[in-house]
Amino acid sequence: MANDYIEAARVFHEITKHSYTSVRSSPHFLDWDNKPLPYKIYPGSASVALPRDLNLSSTPTLAALSSHVPPDFSASIDTDSLTRILFCADGLTRQKRVGDDDYHFRAAASAGALYPIEIYVAAGDVAGFETGLYHFSPADLRMTGLRRGDWRSYIADAAGKRPSILRARAVIAMSAIYWRSEWKYRARAYRYCYWDAGTILANLLSAAAAEEISAEVITAFEDPALETLLGIDTDREGMIALVALGRTDDPATPSPSVEPLTLETIPLSANEVAYPDLVKIHRESRLVTADEVASVAGAKLDSAPAQSSSSPSALHLETITSEESMGLGETILRRGSSRAFAQEPITAEELATIMAASSEHPQADFPPLTDTYLIVNAANGMEPGAYYYNRDARAFELLKPGNFRGEAGYLCLEQPLGMDCSALIVYMADLERALHAFGNRGYGDAHLEAGILGGRAYLAAYSLGRGATGLTFYDDDTTKFFEPHAAGKSPLLMVAVGIPRSRMKS
Ligand SMILES: Cc1cc2nc3c(=O)[nH]c(=O)nc-3n(C[C@H](O)[C@H](O)[C@H](O)COP(=O)(O)O)c2cc1C
Repeated sequence: MANDYIEAARVFHEITKHSYTSVRSSPHFLDWDNKPLPYKIYPGSASVALPRDLNLSSTPTLAALSSHVPPDFSASIDTDSLTRILFCADGLTRQKRVGDDDYHFRAAASAGALYPIEIYVAAGDVAGFETGLYHFSPADLRMTGLRRGDWRSYIADAAGKRPSILRARAVIAMSAIYWRSEWKYRARAYRYCYWDAGTILANLLSAAAAEEISAEVITAFEDPALETLLGIDTDREGMIALVALGRTDDPATPSPSVEPLTLETIPLSANEVAYPDLVKIHRESRLVTADEVASVAGAKLDSAPAQSSSSPSALHLETITSEESMGLGETILRRGSSRAFAQEPITAEELATIMAASSEHPQADFPPLTDTYLIVNAANGMEPGAYYYNRDARAFELLKPGNFRGEAGYLCLEQPLGMDCSALIVYMADLERALHAFGNRGYGDAHLEAGILGGRAYLAAYSLGRGATGLTFYDDDTTKFFEPHAAGKSPLLMVAVGIPRSRMKS
């Protein structure tokens, strides 16, 4: 079975690593005339407008980030709450004219602002909204109708009869159109698509929590069944995750039989370039039978080798109370990646709060796979140095003291953001452990989780009036920097947090 052939993920990871040499020996020039459209547009399909008077949540961001709504206590969903969730996840929040180009920015961060993720919604029990399968169009805040009928049981069947889907009020399906991200990042784009889906999920899950609507992320499903349902060509657009939203006592009615869906969409650019290494890892990660889904959904991780995190010297720092953080709606509207940091300190309390909020594992069908490390450049109340952050104990363990601003700037692909931030958070995973448990699917899961944790770090930082930005990195040099503690682990994503240079606090 392809998903079991984990050599595929090992090879893909190896050949898409960045190093000092690789970025110099394999330069890539951007073809601006061929830049892909960031929106999927169905020109011949009818769509319905979503309400624009959104009244976004004023729930403190830190409270939304830390709350898990138990399915039994989930609120119902109506058109307004569904719209708020979709807008907070992937809405168009800002437009900027640069030269002749209009830049559209969305609610969640996206590497290169390329926005490869698409969102579809199977609405079943959403008050005021007709049952059916829709595509969410962030550009004009509309839902394009794809299919009539209740598709929840079809999706639940594809996901091993997952109870959360059978009883969901709505199911969200997230896919990635690889070319959007490949245009800049080539085959490595596969990783970026999971990160970008993760930042969207961080927003989506906190928006759902603020509405007191339960949400479960699911990545074990039969890909072909969902590709047929959504009418997507798997080599161009791959399924990333499902989210079961809310809970109803009336299980979904049987779905209609699925007919092929051939709806016209506007081409993204004149020439789409396919990157065979990306196509290969995506194909080798697909689950195509119910048995494969059952085996991945039921898999268990080998227990992790004991970390030295039980060290008595581990730092347990005070955190800031939720009430002191900005409302979630305001945080999401204000969020925007910091383009420069001021080399100023945040407080240890702020950093501890950001790390605790980032570390919450979502309700999901996969376990925590990611470990967190940091380079602390400047946090009042903390010694500068390299740290391991124990997600369970919420404790910092100093691995080596020192000023590592130079190293931090180097590791994130020589970007000053790493050098000037207050702390560089590094999400890492033992990929072998994930692959042994979940096959190649574990590769996507680990990257998705890192994206979710990174997206949470963004929200927590902005909710405290601080800045953040996602960063890419030199793979092996990052592992080496955190060895011996991080031996065998691969960096998955970096997020720098600090004081934005233009918005320095007094
Ligand atoms: C996974 C990920 C990686 C990113 N990597 C970088 C990076 O290496 N350098 C950088 O300046 N910004 C990086 N960013 C920030 C994006 O450029 C930014 O999110 C995008 O331009 C959209 O702008 P906004 O976040 O202000 O809405 C990254 C963002 C994400 C989510």
